[in-house]
Amino acid sequence: MRAKLLNTTSVRLAAMGVVLASTSAVVVFGVIYISALGAMRTTLDTELNNEIAEIMVRGPDTPPAVIEAGVRAAIAAPPTGTFFRLMNAQGQIVASDLALPPLAQGWHSLTAPKPTRFPDHIRALRVRVQRLATGGTLLVAADASMLDEMDALILRSFLIGFGITLAIGLAAGIGFGRRALARIEAVSAAGEKIMAGDFTKRIPLSGSGDEFDHLGAVINAMLARIELLIGNIRAVGDEIAHDLRAPLTRLRQSLELMLRERAHPDLPSALADAIDQVDATLALSAGILRLAQIESGARRASFAKLDLSALLDDLADTYATVAEDHGATLQAAIAPELSLTGDAALLKQLFSNLIENALTHAGPAAAISLTARRSHTTITITLSDHGPGIPADRHAEALRRFGRLDPSRSTEGHGLGLPIACAITALHDGTFTLTATNPACERPGLTILLTLPA
Ligand SMILES: Nc1ncnc2c1ncn2[C@@H]1O[C@H](COP(=O)(O)OP(=O)(O)OP(=O)(O)O)[C@@H](O)[C@H]1O
Ligand SMILES: [Mg+2]
Repeated sequence: MRAKLLNTTSVRLAAMGVVLASTSAVVVFGVIYISALGAMRTTLDTELNNEIAEIMVRGPDTPPAVIEAGVRAAIAAPPTGTFFRLMNAQGQIVASDLALPPLAQGWHSLTAPKPTRFPDHIRALRVRVQRLATGGTLLVAADASMLDEMDALILRSFLIGFGITLAIGLAAGIGFGRRALARIEAVSAAGEKIMAGDFTKRIPLSGSGDEFDHLGAVINAMLARIELLIGNIRAVGDEIAHDLRAPLTRLRQSLELMLRERAHPDLPSALADAIDQVDATLALSAGILRLAQIESGARRASFAKLDLSALLDDLADTYATVAEDHGATLQAAIAPELSLTGDAALLKQLFSNLIENALTHAGPAAAISLTARRSHTTITITLSDHGPGIPADRHAEALRRFGRLDPSRSTEGHGLGLPIACAITALHDGTFTLTATNPACERPGLTILLTLPA
């Protein structure tokens, strides 16, 4: 767990953050440190320069006696935190109020050892040594304890601040890393359950709407889709087994009969019948495969912009002739320039299925009407007939795979036309509704109301 935690992106990001924060802290403290101490040292140095200027009233030309008098007066004055030492050319002390080793000409900062004759509160000295024309030296020193204290204070605050930054950064990194790991582990756990065969398992979402939730939601949607597809495959398998059984059994019986009565005069017609049954079986399995392919969503990849008005006009023209042959009529009212993104071949199949249903199930002399128009962002298409219609409580059954309502099975078909039409509509993100054309009539008819996004 610890190795994993150190490997998480959040811990790495937190570490980077800590490094950046520490670097900027060092820079900020460095600037404060240098400028604050620099300013204090300048003040102190100006003070020492002023003291020397007061004693050497005429600069380098000040007579030695005036210098000596000045030093003695300064020593005798009440203590101001400034100290003096005058030495002659032989290095002997002429006047002094502090004990320091001999120092070279220039500036010095002394912290330790502290001169013994100094008061306790003095912890550091700033010193200026000035060589005199006589060969002796004038030394002026000032209490620099403040400087020393500031120095220590700034360093101490820096170390504390730095430590707190480091601690907060590390704690945040470990906290975030642990949280991220926990969420990922929940995803892994769900994944393992799913791999073990539990397709109902979903990734838990925290509800915070963060990127983990987003990822979880996407994976969950994917799982829901996989679950649906697997359910479909199972159902299709069952249905194939169930629905192919009847025609295959019948076919087998016919073939057996033919074998037994080889010389029967009806043999050629029985053979033709058998071929019809094989064809019907092939058509059924092709329909099932087609439906499965549409429901898989794979056809979405080949979607392109298409002219729906032209497509519907073509279909209406083609089927108007077919309808005439059936003694029926097909009227079309299609608005121009309806376009959408989709699969032309599938949409053609969708409308063919519906028109063929009307021709097959609405009875002789069916009056079929097809309309299409745009309303806002959707295209609404209706296909109506004035046949027997489908009672509202049997809509679901009609839309089901192999759902055929005609109990006598007097019409040809496998009950795949409507489910395929429905699946194609869903593939195009549309809606598919069955209603009655004239609910009050004895023959209410069927109207299919389709909407497709424009
Ligand atoms: N326009 C309609 N009027 C009345 N009943 C209909 C109409 N369209 C469909 N149905 C009923 O709904 C059932 C299902 O229709 P669907 O198109 O799915 O199958 P089918 O037409 O029987 O067979 P297939 O389309 O596979 O050749 C039909 O068997 C029929 O009973
Ligand atoms: Mg049909």
